[in-house]
Amino acid sequence: MRKDGTPANVLGNPTGKLFLSFEIKALIATLLTLTVVTAIWNFQPYYGNLITTATATIKSSTCLPETTTSSAKKLSNSKSTDPNKRIFTSYGNAAALFVQMGAYRGGTSSFAIIGLSSKPIQVFSKPWYKCEWISNNSSKPSIKAKAIKMLPDWGYGRVYTVVVVNCTFPVNPNEDNSGGKLNIYAYYGESSKKYEKIEALEEKPGSYNESNFKPPYKYEYLYCGSSLYGNLSASRIREWMAYHAWFFGPKSHFVFHDAGGVSSDVRAVLEPWVRLGRATIQDIRDQAEFDGYYYNQFLIVNDCLHRYRHSANWTFYFDVDEYIFLPDGRSLESVLADFSSYTQFTIEQNPMSSKLCLNDSTQSYTSEWGFEKLVFRDSRTKIRRDRKYAIQAKNAFSTGVHMSENVTGNTLHDTESKIRYYHYHNSITVPGEPCRVFLPNSAKKTGKFFENKPFVYDDNMKKLAHEIKQFEEKTIGAVNVLNL
Ligand SMILES: *[C@@H]1O[C@H](CO)[C@@H](O)[C@H](O)[C@H]1NC(C)=O
Ligand SMILES: *[C@@H]1O[C@H](CO)[C@@H](O)[C@H](O)[C@H]1NC(C)=O
Ligand SMILES: *[C@@H]1O[C@H](CO)[C@@H](O)[C@H](O)[C@H]1NC(C)=O
Ligand SMILES: *[C@@H]1O[C@H](CO)[C@@H](O)[C@H](O)[C@H]1NC(C)=O
Ligand SMILES: *[C@@H]1O[C@H](CO)[C@@H](O)[C@H](O)[C@H]1NC(C)=O
Ligand SMILES: *[C@@H]1O[C@H](CO)[C@@H](O)[C@H](O)[C@H]1NC(C)=O
Ligand SMILES: *[C@@H]1O[C@H](CO)[C@@H](O)[C@H](O)[C@H]1NC(C)=O
Ligand SMILES: *[C@@H]1O[C@H](CO)[C@@H](O)[C@H](O)[C@H]1NC(C)=O
Repeated sequence: MRKDGTPANVLGNPTGKLFLSFEIKALIATLLTLTVVTAIWNFQPYYGNLITTATATIKSSTCLPETTTSSAKKLSNSKSTDPNKRIFTSYGNAAALFVQMGAYRGGTSSFAIIGLSSKPIQVFSKPWYKCEWISNNSSKPSIKAKAIKMLPDWGYGRVYTVVVVNCTFPVNPNEDNSGGKLNIYAYYGESSKKYEKIEALEEKPGSYNESNFKPPYKYEYLYCGSSLYGNLSASRIREWMAYHAWFFGPKSHFVFHDAGGVSSDVRAVLEPWVRLGRATIQDIRDQAEFDGYYYNQFLIVNDCLHRYRHSANWTFYFDVDEYIFLPDGRSLESVLADFSSYTQFTIEQNPMSSKLCLNDSTQSYTSEWGFEKLVFRDSRTKIRRDRKYAIQAKNAFSTGVHMSENVTGNTLHDTESKIRYYHYHNSITVPGEPCRVFLPNSAKKTGKFFENKPFVYDDNMKKLAHEIKQFEEKTIGAVNVLNL
């Protein structure tokens, strides 16, 4: 649930009447002095050095009193005797300065905090962030660092935009493993006067283990799914899951994000994989409180990136109506070995019809899987189409839906002959039978113009169906999905 107004957002109490003008002047003088003094105390070069000395650190951490902002507020809110002095009274709180979704350690000395922030504030006020580590060992001074902020949603945000805050300390702040807390100071604008303090993360004593941030990783491949919403076909999800569990092999893991799309039928087909430890379903339905781009998908992909940053060699980002495919018949491991010097690579799509099937009297289409019977591919080339991607997450600082722009290392796009994906656009939201137009057997050879596009027969996925079905039964047992 959404948090209520923070001190800095609460506008003053109606106390003005009680003061005589002399007292108001005295009050103003006191408050002004207080504000100036705290401003000086708080003053730190805005784009300054990351490293502050221990004394400076202690000083500024003890003088972060709540009065800094509320004092200024009371000033403008006091009733004035001047009839031409206008008062601006605000109500409500339209968008928060920061909405935290996740905070993760990302290595020996760095952390990432993933959240949302009011878009107009980000665009016009240029907020910034400061990080502070408070050790559990009270004889250790706190350590501060100026944070790097990234806005990874390419300007697509709405009321909210996505913010990834990177805190990098000069040393591991919890080197002695006594535990501690990471605080973030989120400033409202370039000035250091108005801010909110966020307790972002806590490390329990003894919990830091350097080997969690080094290879070998727990998984070879991780799937980070974006927000699932709408009425999803349980049959299609079941097929997608079986195919990719087979494709990526036993050392892979799948993370789904339920923004309302995981109905009880969808949950039922994923549950056997969850029980086997092959999949995780995160409930992100509360994201609906915050108006961001398309079910906050940019927030979700960044949370997943950092949550699993050191969990897998490669992290894949694509959708549940898309199927990764290796056209030249090599193994995934050998293809990815070719790409290992790149931080990320993008993947081109084979766009498939989600309606066209073959009228083949020798087969009963109703019992076939989606990718078994949707066998017509849009054959137009040289069209700019969306791509999907995979990334070595340890080299990424933030990410997007189609690729990351904040990485160290290179990006490879020239991958079409080695890895592609079949895209059954929107087939996932069709209730019941996806086959809606049947083409005669001759279309296998001749292809077909349909809705002004040329389609050709492509049975690469169909050929795998038998093996996937056997794999599914061997792995999770017989599945009883009626045509949902
Ligand atoms: C934060 O940024 C630093 C410097 O760019 C980088 O080395 C580190 O990996 C980043 N950490 C996270 C968690 O993204
Ligand atoms: C560290 O934190 C734990 C709780 O997490 C507490 O029980 C313990 O006393 C603390 N130790 C020190 C040295 O502050
Ligand atoms: C706390 O830090 C001090 C100073 O670094 C050190 O001497 C002491 O052993 C530490 N205590 C614990 C419980 O780690
Ligand atoms: C750190 O993690 C590794 C790998 O999980 C484990 O083998 C090791 O025992 C852990 N070390 C400590 C001190 O917990
Ligand atoms: C994953 O990375 C480890 C360590 O870098 C490497 O030994 C292993 O071969 C990689 N596995 C795959 C499937 O790429
Ligand atoms: C989902 O399906 C139900 C009935 O089957 C319908 O009432 C609802 O509007 C659909 N929702 C969406 C987002 O399509
Ligand atoms: C499929 O083909 C048969 C003849 O082979 C024809 O009778 C039938 O109407 C066709 N069905 C559809 C849905 O086109
Ligand atoms: C992230 O990428 C954007 C777009 O390329 C760039 O403007 C920004 O400076 C980058 N930020 C960091 C911290 O790498």
